[in-house]
Amino acid sequence: MRIISIANLKGGSAKSTTTFNLAGVLREAGYQVLCIDIDPQKTLGEAYFGVYAGEKTFSDALISDNMIGELVQSSKFDGLLVIPADDGLKAIKSGQTQIEGGELRLRSCLTRVKTNIDQTNGINKMDWVLIDCPPSLDKLTMNALVASDYVLVPVDPGAGGRGALGDTIQYVSSAQKWYNPTLKLLGLLIGNTDPRTVYDQTVVEVVREIYGNLVFKSIIKASVRVRESAESQIPLVFCKRTEFSRYADMYRSLKDEIVERTA
Ligand SMILES: Nc1ncnc2c1ncn2[C@@H]1O[C@H](COP(=O)(O)OP(=O)(O)O)[C@@H](O)[C@H]1O
Ligand SMILES: [Mg+2]
Repeated sequence: MRIISIANLKGGSAKSTTTFNLAGVLREAGYQVLCIDIDPQKTLGEAYFGVYAGEKTFSDALISDNMIGELVQSSKFDGLLVIPADDGLKAIKSGQTQIEGGELRLRSCLTRVKTNIDQTNGINKMDWVLIDCPPSLDKLTMNALVASDYVLVPVDPGAGGRGALGDTIQYVSSAQKWYNPTLKLLGLLIGNTDPRTVYDQTVVEVVREIYGNLVFKSIIKASVRVRESAESQIPLVFCKRTEFSRYADMYRSLKDEIVERTA
């Protein structure tokens, strides 16, 4: 089981879109995939996968250090499972709900999965766990980073996005220093760019100059197809019409790089 957080301080940097489509291509490649939505905005679970929190919630599991296997729900796609976000996450995020050792709760839950104590729903058979983080550097994002083997940072390469990127990378360093020394920065993904514009070409070059090989070779081009796929709750790779296939290919190539970097 390899655990990847998808994190960036900046909202709208394509975190949820990346998680959704990466889950799709990993599943297509034959892997069992679990997506965890730790963003109280519930974009990944509700809006993209159409999966809603039940009576037992993810936030309760974090607060009371309970099993998370029982929260796992199926999606429309066989072998692609989801733990949806719920409103209770807001109180953890704001600090309204105080938890002792609060940064370590998700790690504790996932350790029980890894060590086969929490076997509900066959969650321990997952090959990949993808955690979609909120657009802030808070207790929820720290929970995700502390629980993860890797962090993937989707980048908005424009001026405002580059500042947020620096802060995000610094936050990853803090997570490594204080809580999770084995956490690896998997890479930076240019996840929503229009290479036909000189502006986008230039900012992508700037990001590559600053971060070098940390930036994935694969980039995801901006397209209404990407938005349509999320709107119809079908990852690009499972969208049948041919106009979606070149965008699915971009995520397939990202998946190949990820598999190589984590081998
Ligand atoms: N490659 C892309 N092309 C077009 N729109 C995109 C692309 N990637 C993301 N978007 C859109 O950008 C917005 C923000 O993406 P989202 O993944 O929700 O960001 P985040 O999770 O970082 O807040 C969404 O409306 C999404 O559909
Ligand atoms: Mg999001």
